[in-house]
Amino acid sequence: MALWLVLLSALFLLADSASFVNVFIGTTNGGHVFPGATLPHGMVKVGLDTDSPGNQAGYDANATFNATGFSQLHDSGTGGGTSLSNFKLWPLPECKSFASCNTSMSVRKTLRKVLPDGSPDDAGSPGYFATNLSTGVQVELTASRRTALHRYTFPPSSREPRIVVDITNDGLTSNTEPVVNVNTATGRVTGGARFASSFGPGRYNVYTCVDFKGDGYDFKAPTEYGVWLENAPVQNSTQLIQLYSGFLSEMGALLTFPPSPNSIHTTILARVGVSFISSDQACANAESEIPNFDFDETVTTAREIWNELLSRIQVDTQGVDKEITELFYSSLYRTHISPADYTGENPNWSSTEPYYDSFYCNWDTYRTLYPLMSLHDPEVFARIVRGMINIQQHEGWLPECRGATVQQFIQGGSNGDPILGEFFVKFHEHASALNVSAGDLYTALLADAEEQPPNWNLQGRQATVWKQYNFIPSDIYGPGGTATKQVSRTLEHSFGDFAISQVARILNKTDDTTKYQARAGNFINPRFADGQWNYTDPRHCSVNDPLLSTCYLDATNRDGFYESSPMVYVPQDTAKLILLQGGNESFINRLNLIFDQNYFDVTDEPSQQIPFMYHYVNRPGLSTQRSRMILAESYNTTVNGLPGNDDSGAMGSYAVFYLMGMYPLPATRQFLLASPYFPKVTFHNLLFNTTTTIIANNFRGNPQNGMGGTVFVKSVTIDGQPWHSNCYLDWDVFVNGSTIELELTSDINTTCGEGPEGLPPSLSTGGYI
Ligand SMILES: *[C@@H]1O[C@H](CO)[C@@H](O)[C@H](O)[C@H]1NC(C)=O
Ligand SMILES: *[C@@H]1O[C@H](CO)[C@@H](O)[C@H](O)[C@H]1NC(C)=O
Ligand SMILES: *[C@@H]1O[C@H](CO)[C@@H](O)[C@H](O)[C@H]1NC(C)=O
Ligand SMILES: *[C@@H]1O[C@H](CO)[C@@H](O)[C@H](O)[C@H]1NC(C)=O
Ligand SMILES: *[C@@H]1O[C@H](CO)[C@@H](O)[C@H](O)[C@H]1NC(C)=O
Ligand SMILES: *[C@@H]1O[C@H](CO)[C@@H](O)[C@H](O)[C@H]1NC(C)=O
Ligand SMILES: *[C@@H]1O[C@H](CO)[C@@H](O)[C@H](O)[C@H]1NC(C)=O
Ligand SMILES: *[C@@H]1O[C@H](CO)[C@@H](O)[C@H](O)[C@H]1NC(C)=O
Ligand SMILES: *[C@@H]1O[C@H](CO)[C@@H](O)[C@H](O)[C@H]1NC(C)=O
Ligand SMILES: *[C@@H]1O[C@H](CO)[C@@H](O)[C@H](O)[C@H]1NC(C)=O
Ligand SMILES: *[C@@H]1O[C@H](CO)[C@@H](O)[C@H](O)[C@H]1NC(C)=O
Ligand SMILES: *[C@@H]1O[C@H](CO)[C@@H](O)[C@H](O)[C@H]1NC(C)=O
Repeated sequence: MALWLVLLSALFLLADSASFVNVFIGTTNGGHVFPGATLPHGMVKVGLDTDSPGNQAGYDANATFNATGFSQLHDSGTGGGTSLSNFKLWPLPECKSFASCNTSMSVRKTLRKVLPDGSPDDAGSPGYFATNLSTGVQVELTASRRTALHRYTFPPSSREPRIVVDITNDGLTSNTEPVVNVNTATGRVTGGARFASSFGPGRYNVYTCVDFKGDGYDFKAPTEYGVWLENAPVQNSTQLIQLYSGFLSEMGALLTFPPSPNSIHTTILARVGVSFISSDQACANAESEIPNFDFDETVTTAREIWNELLSRIQVDTQGVDKEITELFYSSLYRTHISPADYTGENPNWSSTEPYYDSFYCNWDTYRTLYPLMSLHDPEVFARIVRGMINIQQHEGWLPECRGATVQQFIQGGSNGDPILGEFFVKFHEHASALNVSAGDLYTALLADAEEQPPNWNLQGRQATVWKQYNFIPSDIYGPGGTATKQVSRTLEHSFGDFAISQVARILNKTDDTTKYQARAGNFINPRFADGQWNYTDPRHCSVNDPLLSTCYLDATNRDGFYESSPMVYVPQDTAKLILLQGGNESFINRLNLIFDQNYFDVTDEPSQQIPFMYHYVNRPGLSTQRSRMILAESYNTTVNGLPGNDDSGAMGSYAVFYLMGMYPLPATRQFLLASPYFPKVTFHNLLFNTTTTIIANNFRGNPQNGMGGTVFVKSVTIDGQPWHSNCYLDWDVFVNGSTIELELTSDINTTCGEGPEGLPPSLSTGGYI
C-alpha cells in the first residue's frame, strides 16, 4: 500500500506543474520579464507590447500603459535598449472606412480593459497569453518554436474586422529597408526589414509570413486589402519597398475580413512564421509547425512540453505556503526562456550543429542558471554548448552577449568559459554521447584565453594584456579609448581561467592545469601597468558611494568596477580570501557589515554568492538565515516581485537554488548546502535516468521573514550513510540518484561538521575535484 501511495502522489505531482507558474512575476517596475507565449527556449516569443518606458520585454503589468501591438520576438529580463519586438499585429474592430483606419503606432494604440483591482485584464500560463483591449477585442496568443498563432475575437458590433500587420515598429523603432507584400488571392502578408541590436553596434535582418483563417468559418480572401505608410492606408496596393538607411516611417499591410456567418463574434486566426533567413523560410516554418491553425492544440502541446520539463523537479508541498510553491515553479519556468533555439535560422554560415542565440548575457547566467540546467536538463545544455562551440569555430571566440544574430557588448568577461567548464566538469563522461567534442570544447576555451580579438568589447578578452600582466591594468585603454571595468574583468578572467584549469585537469593536461590555476589566483583592486596599486574607496560603486558613481556600461564609468563595489566582489578562492582578510572573525564581521550597511546588491550578479559565504568559516547557519532573509525581502509572487532585471532567468535560477537549499559554484562538483523550503525535493535527470531526493527531516515550515526557525542543517546522511559535511554536496549524489537526508535544528550555531573536511573546498585548500 505504501508503494502505491507513493506512486499516486508522484502521479498527482507530475500532472500539472505548469499550473503553479505565475508568468507575471517581475513584469513591472524593472523586472523586464516576458509573460507571453513561448516553448522552452523557443525562438518565437509572442507577446503584448506596450508604450511603457520599461518595455524591454514588450509588456508592462501596469494598466496605465497602452498596448501598441502583438509582436513575435522578445527577450526576457534584459537591460539595454528594448530588444526585438518585431512584426506587431493589431486588431481594428471598426474604422469608418479602409482609408480612415489608424495604422500608425502612436494613434492606433489603446489601453487594455482594467479589472476592478486596477490590474489589466490579462491572463497567461506556459504557452498561452490573453488580453482584452478597451476596444472590445480579445487577443489570445500561443507559439511553436518559430511560429506564433494569434486569435482575435472581435466584438459583435464589428462588422468589418480588420488586422494591421506592422513590419517596421520594433522595440527600438530602428527599421531600415522594409519590404511588405500582400497576396490578394490568399491574404498572405510577407515582408521583413533590418533592425538595430539592443546592446551593441550591429544590425540584423528578420522576416515574416502571416496567414489568416476564419475561426469556425472559411473565407477565400480578405474583402479589402492594401498597404499603409504611416497613418495612410492605400487600398488595393499590394507592395511597398523602401530603400532608405535611416528610420523614416512606419509601414505594413491592412486587411479587412468578412464577418463570421455563424456567430455574433468574428474570430480571426493569424499564423505568423518568423525567420532570420528569408520570408520564404518564415512561410515554410509556419506551414510545417502549425499546418491546421489549431489554436487549442498548439496551446495543449506547449503546455505538455512545459509540464514534462518543469516536472523533472518535484517538491513536496506539505506544510509549505502556496506562494512558495508558486515562487519556485515560476522561477524555474523563467530559467527556460533564454537562450533561444535558433537552429536553422543562422544567417551567417551553414552548419548541422544546433544554433542558440539570445545569450543576454553569459555574465549574468553562468553563476546559477547553467548549474541548475545541469541538475535536470543536460540534453538542452549540451545543445547550447555545441552551438557556442560552433560560433567559436566560425567567429573565433565564444559568444558572450549575443542577441538577434549579432555580437553585443561584453559585461565583465568571456563567461562562455565557465559555462563550458560547468558542462565538462559535470558531463565529461557523457560528452561524446551528447555529441560534444571534448577536443573542440577545449580548443574553444583556449581561443578565449589566449587570443585577443580585434574588438574584445564584443566577445573574447583583452588577452594580450591579460597574459602579459595577469591583471587588466587601469592605464591600458580599450577600443575607442575606453578604460572600463578593468577590475571586474580581472576577476572574471580569473574565474574563466579557473574553469579552464578544471577542464584541463579532467583531460590530464597537467601543464595547462598548473598554468590556468596560477592565472586564476588574481585578486582585485585597480592596478597600473607598472605594478602600482591605485587607491579605491571601498564604498565605491555601492549604495554608500559618496560620489554616486553609476558603474554601468557608460562613458562615465572609467574606474574599474562593473555592477558591483570592491566590498562585494568576491572571487572563487574563498579560503585565501579569508586569510587575506585576517581570518574567520574578521571575515564574518566583514560579511555582516556588507549586509548591515547595505553593500549587498541583490539586483546584480556579482553579489550573488555572498549570503552563502559564511559556510567557508564554518557558520552555515548564518548563510541559511541570510539567504532566507534576502528571499523574504526581495522575491515574491507579485508583478513587482523581482528586485531588478531578471537577466534572462539568472535571478530566477538564483531563487530556485535558494528554495532548494543549495548554492552552486560553476565548473566544480560542489553545491553549498542549506535547508530546502520543502520537506522533500526530487530531481529527475533523464541522461543518468536517476532521481535524487533531498529529504528535510524535522521540517517545521519556513519563517516568514527568514529569521530563526527550524531550518538549520545539523547532520546529513547520503543513502543512509553519514556524510562528512553539513555544508556541501558533491555532484556524485546527482549522478547516482542518491537519497540525501538532512536533520534540521533550530540552532543557528550548528557547524559544517567535525574536522577540516567539513568545510567546502577552495582552490588553495586542495581544489574541487
Ligand atoms: C503605473 O505607472 C504610472 C505611470 O508611470 C505610475 O504613476 C503608477 O504609480 C504606476 N502604478 C503602479 C501600480 O505601479
Ligand atoms: C496612452 O495613449 C493615449 C492616447 O494616445 C495617451 O494620451 C496616453 O498618454 C498614453 N499613455 C501612456 C502611459 O503613455
Ligand atoms: C484615430 O486616431 C485619432 C487620434 O488619436 C482618434 O481621434 C480617432 O478616434 C481614431 N480613430 C479610430 C477609428 O479609432
Ligand atoms: C476577456 O474577455 C472574455 C470575454 O468576456 C473573457 O472570457 C476573458 O476571461 C477575458 N480575459 C482574458 C484575459 O481573456
Ligand atoms: C549575421 O548576419 C546578419 C544578417 O546578414 C548580419 O546583420 C550580422 O551582422 C551577422 N552577424 C555576425 C556576427 O557576423
Ligand atoms: C479596390 O478594388 C476594388 C475591387 O476592384 C474596388 O471595388 C475598390 O473601389 C478599389 N478601391 C480603391 C480605393 O481603389
Ligand atoms: C548525435 O549525433 C548522432 C549522429 O549525427 C545522432 O544520431 C544522435 O541523435 C545525436 N545525439 C544527440 C544527443 O544529439
Ligand atoms: C586521465 O587519467 C586517468 C587516470 O590515469 C584516466 O583514467 C583517464 O581516462 C584519463 N583521461 C583522459 C581524458 O585521458
Ligand atoms: C585612481 O583612483 C582614483 C579614485 O580612487 C580615480 O579618481 C583615478 O582616476 C584613478 N587613476 C587612474 C589613472 O585610473
Ligand atoms: C515584492 O518584492 C519587491 C521587489 O523586491 C518589493 O519591492 C516589494 O515590496 C515586495 N512586495 C511584497 C508584498 O512583499
Ligand atoms: C530508467 O530507470 C528505471 C528504473 O529506475 C527503469 O525502469 C527504466 O527502464 C530506465 N529507463 C531507461 C531509458 O534506461
Ligand atoms: C549561538 O551562539 C551565540 C553566541 O555566539 C549565542 O548567543 C546563542 O544563544 C547561540 N544560539 C543557540 C541556539 O544556542
